[in-house]
Amino acid sequence: MSKSLNSNSMTHRPLVALLDGRDCSVEMPILKDVATVAFCDANSTSEIHEKVLNEAVGALMWHTIQLNRDDLAKFKSLRIIVRIGSGVDNIDVKSAAELGIAVCNVPGFGIEEVADTTLCLILNLYRRTYWLANALREGKKVPGPEQLREVATPCPRIRGDTLGLVGFGRIGTAVALRAQAFGFRVTFYDPYLPDGIEKSLGVERVYSMQDLLFQSDCISLHCSLNEHNRHLINEHTIRLMRPGAFLVNTARGALIDEQAVAKALKDERIRAAAFDVFESEPFSLANSPLKDCKNVIFTPHSAFYSDSSIRELREHAATEMRRAIVGKLPDALRSCVNADLLQQQQQQQQSSHQLAAVTASSGNHAR
Ligand SMILES: NC(=O)c1ccc[n+]([C@@H]2O[C@H](COP(=O)([O-])OP(=O)(O)OC[C@H]3O[C@@H](n4cnc5c(N)ncnc54)[C@H](O)[C@@H]3O)[C@@H](O)[C@H]2O)c1
Repeated sequence: MSKSLNSNSMTHRPLVALLDGRDCSVEMPILKDVATVAFCDANSTSEIHEKVLNEAVGALMWHTIQLNRDDLAKFKSLRIIVRIGSGVDNIDVKSAAELGIAVCNVPGFGIEEVADTTLCLILNLYRRTYWLANALREGKKVPGPEQLREVATPCPRIRGDTLGLVGFGRIGTAVALRAQAFGFRVTFYDPYLPDGIEKSLGVERVYSMQDLLFQSDCISLHCSLNEHNRHLINEHTIRLMRPGAFLVNTARGALIDEQAVAKALKDERIRAAAFDVFESEPFSLANSPLKDCKNVIFTPHSAFYSDSSIRELREHAATEMRRAIVGKLPDALRSCVNADLLQQQQQQQQSSHQLAAVTASSGNHAR
């Protein structure tokens, strides 16, 4: 059964709220004729105004607010959440379905940007550009090759090294295509993909995380975060890595146990690393277990960002919200991540209504 959010639109426009931001300049032109758009700029639901909790039927959100079951239950009219991004790990998607709330994302956005950033970080680890540039900025003189050795070492050659990708979805694949051009031997681990994809892309595939860690000179994470892979890189898996391997994470911070990685970086068990995402965001160097590690490059969850990608992302998210308002839920949606759960929920509700009606009518007959 699908329902429209706009049933009384003649008298009253549905309320859509941007939960964790202020700027609705891209969303407003797309939504203003079908919805009232408000912003909350909240870090948690405790900062969201009562009116939004009571009346918002739609919520747009970035990755800087969490919605667990209790948070979701605070919204009294909510029917649709659109994540302005691809990862939905900050939303309890199952509870949302149980509460009758559709959750959508924008899966295709920023793939090229994240893949380009990943390569940029990998190249910095190999070519040491970040550290060499900083050395000059700090006034260091590098007059010849002997002094260069001091600043540039260790500096392995890329060609022939193995780049191991954990997760081979949209971004992992885009990274593989780019890395091949630099001479990497590319291998990946992704237990959820069918056989054969490695053949079409000319890469190698391993079937265990252990094999990937054994074989890789540089490991780059591109899997989605889920209930099975939190702290995928931990004290135990670090021991399985090649001594002196590089580590890159542009996927999700919680895939890495930062305490364990910090120790391995200080011991140079991991030679150097580059992280765009962190266990706790926004990233604060002073509060991070990684703060004393000189062999890390940090970027502020910016891998997806370009002038074009951010605009496209916001337009896609607002357009999905518009589809939700003018169409039927969940049929009108293009990227609903809990559509199956939602439909099961709706069918269960329908059956229990029918059962209640049958019981009531047989009760009437009995009278
Ligand atoms: N840093 C950023 O700005 C940014 C931007 C967009 C996406 N991301 C993140 O990048 C990651 C990849 O995004 P995508 O669009 O390619 O997602 P995707 O869904 O296309 O691919 C993810 C892949 O990970 C695989 N996977 C899941 N669990 C795994 C595990 N335990 N081991 C190995 N593989 C596993 C899945 O089978 C899937 O093929 C996600 O974590 C996403 O949240 C980051």
